[in-house]
Amino acid sequence: MVRRIDWKSVLNECKDRVFEDIAPLLKTVDQQQPDMDIGAGGDPITRIDCAAENAVVQTLTEHDVPFTLISEESGFKEYGDSPQETYVTTDPIDGTTNLTRGLPFYATSIAVSEKPFLSSVHSALVADLFHQTFYTAQKKRGAQRNGRRIEPSKGCPIEEAVIGIDLNGYRVPEIAPRLTSLIQKTKHIRHFGANALEICYVADGSTDAFIDIRGKLRTTDMAAAWLIINEAGGRITTENDEPLEARLDPKQRVKFVASANEKMHRIILESLKAKKEMK
Ligand code: IPD
Ligand code: CA
Repeated sequence: MVRRIDWKSVLNECKDRVFEDIAPLLKTVDQQQPDMDIGAGGDPITRIDCAAENAVVQTLTEHDVPFTLISEESGFKEYGDSPQETYVTTDPIDGTTNLTRGLPFYATSIAVSEKPFLSSVHSALVADLFHQTFYTAQKKRGAQRNGRRIEPSKGCPIEEAVIGIDLNGYRVPEIAPRLTSLIQKTKHIRHFGANALEICYVADGSTDAFIDIRGKLRTTDMAAAWLIINEAGGRITTENDEPLEARLDPKQRVKFVASANEKMHRIILESLKAKKEMK
């Protein structure tokens, strides 16, 4: 029989342990770092990435939870005697560049699912490690920031909207022209550099949308935030307005548009479509 686990409290413990274990390492980020491996997601691993992943794994194993870990750093690893019961997908540190450069915007992201697919995620945590703000969600039970229910912004004219766009280092000549008309219309374009947290900012109304149509972001980065924005009542789909579905795998990439509300979503999707049709 599958044991019932109180995921809300287990994820909360994971977050506390990550905070505790990375604290001493944060004091050393400006020093020379030891050479380490390349992670399963293809980027170099830092000591802090490892410490954060270990903190998550140790918390789960101490609770005797059998699970398959799907991590941006270690890839797939099985724990316990029935690891196919539960999948724990994590990006131990989202926003590693911010962290190593002293920029205060990085997070730990953990998503729990019964199958290794985005649509199966039922419990999620994104913990802003600098501000100690944490976002949680459970399927059909809403989303919270520091335990209080959140919802996205109700709407504003597109000119006044705060919109995050990720254009980082991938297919820029192809993607940038598709976003020009939106960038011209909107006065407040942002990119903070940790996409899990940026999706949570849409979920809690801090921003109005976040767009990443590069096809570079891994499902390990955004699986938890996917549930958080859905449970908060926002929209997150493909650029053709299809529900997002993808394998949870550090090698699996996704493209998406996340918006606070239907009206904002429509305006953004129309603007992307118009440019595609003009090509
Ligand atoms: C990165 C951040 C960044 C995005 C990159 C991601 P990482 O995550 O989310 O904003 O532009 O594509 O890889 O590498 O720091 O976990
Ligand atoms: Ca990472």
